[in-house]
Amino acid sequence: MNASLLSKAPEAISGMFNRIAKTYDLLNDVMTLGMHRRWKQQACRALGLQPSDRVLDVCTGTGDLAAILSPQVSAVTGLDFSNQMLFQARMRFAHFSNITWQQGDALALPFEDNSFDSVMISFGLRNVHSVRGCIEEMVRVVKPGGRILNLDTASDNNNPLFWIYFNHLMPRLGGWIARDENAYAYLCQSTQAFASPSELQQYFELAGLRKVEMKRLGFGAVAMHVGEKPILAEALKEPV
Ligand SMILES: C[S@@+](CC[C@H](N)C(=O)[O-])C[C@H]1O[C@@H](n2cnc3c(N)ncnc32)[C@H](O)[C@@H]1O
Repeated sequence: MNASLLSKAPEAISGMFNRIAKTYDLLNDVMTLGMHRRWKQQACRALGLQPSDRVLDVCTGTGDLAAILSPQVSAVTGLDFSNQMLFQARMRFAHFSNITWQQGDALALPFEDNSFDSVMISFGLRNVHSVRGCIEEMVRVVKPGGRILNLDTASDNNNPLFWIYFNHLMPRLGGWIARDENAYAYLCQSTQAFASPSELQQYFELAGLRKVEMKRLGFGAVAMHVGEKPILAEALKEPV
C-alpha cells in the first residue's frame, strides 16, 4: 500500500475528496448499509437545537448534516475545502434556502469568534492535520453556552471482523464503485492513526469544553462526542 496515503497535506486530502465526490454518497450507503444516515440524525438530535439557532457544519462534504439541520434551525453554514464535494452538496440541496455553502479550511475557520449556536463535524476530524487545532477553532466560533459535536470512526474498536471489513472489503468497494481503491484504503489507515474516543474526550476538555459526553454507535465502530462551551465567568458576575 502506498505510504503517502496518510498524508494530511491539505492538497492531498482535498484532491482525494475531489476525485471521489461523485460516488461519495453511494459508497457511504453501501459501506454502512445506510446506517450513517441514522448516526447523523442522532448527532443532530444531540445538539438540542432551537428554531432560531445558527449552526455550522465543518467538513460538510456533500452536505448530509446541513440538510438534516436545515428544517430545524434558522440558518446553516456548510464549510468544506473540496470544491467538488461542495458542488455535490449544492446540487443535492439547492432547494434548501437557509443553507450557505462556503469553501474554507477547518483549521482557520473564516468566522468571527462566538458566531454560531452549535458547531458540528462528522467524519471530518480524522482528516485534518491538527485534531486539537480544529477542535479549538470550533470552540472559538461557537457562542458561550453552545455545543460542539464530533462524529467519527473509532480507532479503538477491538472487533477483528470490523478491521477485516475495513482493511480488505472497503478498499475493494472503493475500487469498484469510485475507481479509487487508495481513497478507501486511506479510510482504514486514517481511522487506525486517529485519536481514540477517550483521547478525543480529553481534547474536548482541554479545549475548555464542559459536560463532555461520549457515546458509541454502530456496534462500537463510531463514536460521538458532545461538549458545551462555558459561559464566561465575567458574564455571570453580579454587578458590584
Ligand atoms: C469523510 S468526508 C465527511 C463529509 C460529511 N461530513 C459526512 O459526514 O458525510 C470529510 C470531508 O472533510 C473535508 N475536509 C478535510 N479536511 C478539511 C479541512 N482542513 N478543511 C475543510 N474541509 C476539510 C473533505 O474535503 C471532505 O469533504
